[in-house]
Amino acid sequence: MKVLFIGDIVGKPGRAGLERAMPELRERHAPDLVVANGENAAGGLGITQKTAKEIYAAGVDVITTGNHVYRHRDAYEFLDREERIVRPANYMTGNPGRGSTVVEAAGRRVGVINLSGTVELRAARSPFPEAETLLDRLARDADVFIVDFHAETTSEKIAMGWHLDGRVAAVLGTHTHVPTADARVLPKGTATICDVGMTGSRDSVLGVRWEEALEGFRTQLPVRFTTAEGNIWINAVLVDVRDDGLADSIEQILLPAPD
Ligand SMILES: [Fe+2]
Ligand SMILES: [Fe+2]
Repeated sequence: MKVLFIGDIVGKPGRAGLERAMPELRERHAPDLVVANGENAAGGLGITQKTAKEIYAAGVDVITTGNHVYRHRDAYEFLDREERIVRPANYMTGNPGRGSTVVEAAGRRVGVINLSGTVELRAARSPFPEAETLLDRLARDADVFIVDFHAETTSEKIAMGWHLDGRVAAVLGTHTHVPTADARVLPKGTATICDVGMTGSRDSVLGVRWEEALEGFRTQLPVRFTTAEGNIWINAVLVDVRDDGLADSIEQILLPAPD
């Protein structure tokens, strides 16, 4: 089974670029399941029902999120209702949305789990025991597990890979928007990468117009950030999952979106 995981989709340019790139990605990689991080989908920060629907329409099966998930209050009801979108499981119990979901793909039950790191990010509980609790709870509901670990530091992300090695098909890092060059399958069969990257403008600073981001650093004055539009790239990984639910391979995909 092939799982295509797409890094943080940033704003309308990211959504439109993904839509244009999906036919080629499908033809080239024939994924059985497509998961995408959508925490920056709506105007660069957060997600709404409208932007989520656009992402589903582009061919994404499950949307994961992260620290910007609660940016738009009017999406809370949607997060509660829609089963194919997840937010970090280790956020406050009772907050809108769910931390995991199970979907069918290629005749398998795939559990998609979202967790947040706690270094430089706020979460209610440590993601490490949270992951174990979730895997215990979902053991009878799913055959394959994919984890989006939304975290800031490479150390915390690598540690999570080792923590879950042999128990999940993949621990895929998101949040920093920059793809790392460490994609590999750990000894017990878990595919990892510190960061998948983003789907958005490469002529930017993490999806923000570079002139504005630079102005902020240069002047140390407040600057209004807007989403950059030029040179859209898709940052993704393709994980090949074996019959035993662990990974055979992980391949990085860095693809300019067609115009
Ligand atoms: Fe992000
Ligand atoms: Fe984030």
